[in-house]
Amino acid sequence: MNKLISNKYTTILEAKKGQLEELINTSKNDPWKPIFHIHPECGLLNDPNGLSYFNGEYHVFYQWFPFGPIHGMKHWAHVKSEDLVHWERMSVAIIPTEDYESHGAYSGNAIVKDDQLLLFYTGNVKYSDTERDANQCLAIMNKDYTVQKSTSNPVIKGVPKGYTGHVRDPKVWKDGDKYYMLLGAQRENLTGSIIVYESPDAVEWNFKGELKTSLEDFGFMWECPDYIKLNGKDILIFSPQGIEANGHDYKNLYNVIYAVGKLDLDKLTFDIEYIKELDKGFDFYAPQTFEDNSNRRLMFGWSGMPEVEYPSDKNMWAHCLTLPRELSFEGNILKQKPVKELESLRKDHLNIKGTLNNNLVDIENNKTSYELDIDFTNINSDDITLKLFKSENEAFTIYFDIANKAVFIDRENFIDKFAEEFGHIRSGEINVGENLNLKIFIDRSIVEIFINDGELVFTSRVFPLESSTGIEISSKGTLNYNIDKYTLERGI
Ligand code: FRU
Repeated sequence: MNKLISNKYTTILEAKKGQLEELINTSKNDPWKPIFHIHPECGLLNDPNGLSYFNGEYHVFYQWFPFGPIHGMKHWAHVKSEDLVHWERMSVAIIPTEDYESHGAYSGNAIVKDDQLLLFYTGNVKYSDTERDANQCLAIMNKDYTVQKSTSNPVIKGVPKGYTGHVRDPKVWKDGDKYYMLLGAQRENLTGSIIVYESPDAVEWNFKGELKTSLEDFGFMWECPDYIKLNGKDILIFSPQGIEANGHDYKNLYNVIYAVGKLDLDKLTFDIEYIKELDKGFDFYAPQTFEDNSNRRLMFGWSGMPEVEYPSDKNMWAHCLTLPRELSFEGNILKQKPVKELESLRKDHLNIKGTLNNNLVDIENNKTSYELDIDFTNINSDDITLKLFKSENEAFTIYFDIANKAVFIDRENFIDKFAEEFGHIRSGEINVGENLNLKIFIDRSIVEIFINDGELVFTSRVFPLESSTGIEISSKGTLNYNIDKYTLERGI
């Protein structure tokens, strides 16, 4: 797409003099670049990796191709924070220089062991456009942020019998005195699955077998498996590819699922009670979770989609991570709430209260990075509509069809369009009673909508004109509204 990307499989060590500076300069003043969402200075970001709380700080790594907005040679970029909100860019943590990772250091997670942070990742090896292999690798970060690749690398060489070269994205955790690793895998019959390894020391790994679930034939590949325990429930999160759209679900090219049930590591089974889509927006993929020092289960996702071109590509950068979200399991629902630390970014508070009675109200705004906390009460109406990014030419619509228990978001009305082949509406089921609560974070080109305390979440990218900042609410019936609006400051 650009002369700067002459070879998509080169590392940052091979950058020409001034090349990265030029790329950073090209993307620096892009008004679509978020100010409090983790994003790349240039090039392409995808999955969050190695999420951890280590030595008194939060660490976030992410998949990064430095030289342009394409999926080329993936590095692990690194940012750290004391408060989950203000991020400092660190040196690149993993640069794929070895034969066992010749085509990229792919995704994986991190665990703390003996005062070190162990970073597990997949060494991606490509022989041709269709032939590939995968090695599971380990890198070790010390308290001084230096990273060394393990001398035992690859800690798992190649893929087990019965699977294609699509085996990746280690999720490692410790249970008792053993370590376990889940990997997303494609069976030779081209269906997706998860396989399990076991280790006494997190270095020497033995293949245990495939995790049996009732989802035998569910897409052609499962990426980025994650396993958590919340409120006594086992939850498996993964990103299946090749699932057909169905009602409100699976409308994106690829989607993210969580399965609630019971994991049995001896029998290698995960008994599924039910599955659900994790986020109903246009741009959410490959999330990862971790536990912090106050035992919160936190999650970041990638706000982007593979194989889709985005309007910011022309400025030589692509994608961002979601905000950190705290997960909880309440009343059989997996809830996602933006972490409370985000409140420290607030300034310029505006409170607006009133009643809607078959009319509309405009909320004054000229900011491009802000938060809205909205409470609707005494709702006596069949619908509520919110318009964000509103101007003469543009609008992002959130529409509650209360009678039909559904909410729709629509991003058709933007001048810069993208991913249109996947439609411009997303939706979810919601039973609106008398009250409704919304928390909305807008950061230039990303909008995250948390409904009813994170019961339903929509994450989407939009690329508005800088002047499209209007906010409008309307309803055909009656309701009371109480809206807090905060301008949000830079965090990265
Ligand atoms: C998910 C994914 C992972 C892989 C990484 C490569 O978006 O495809 O399966 O490890 O991205 O960048």
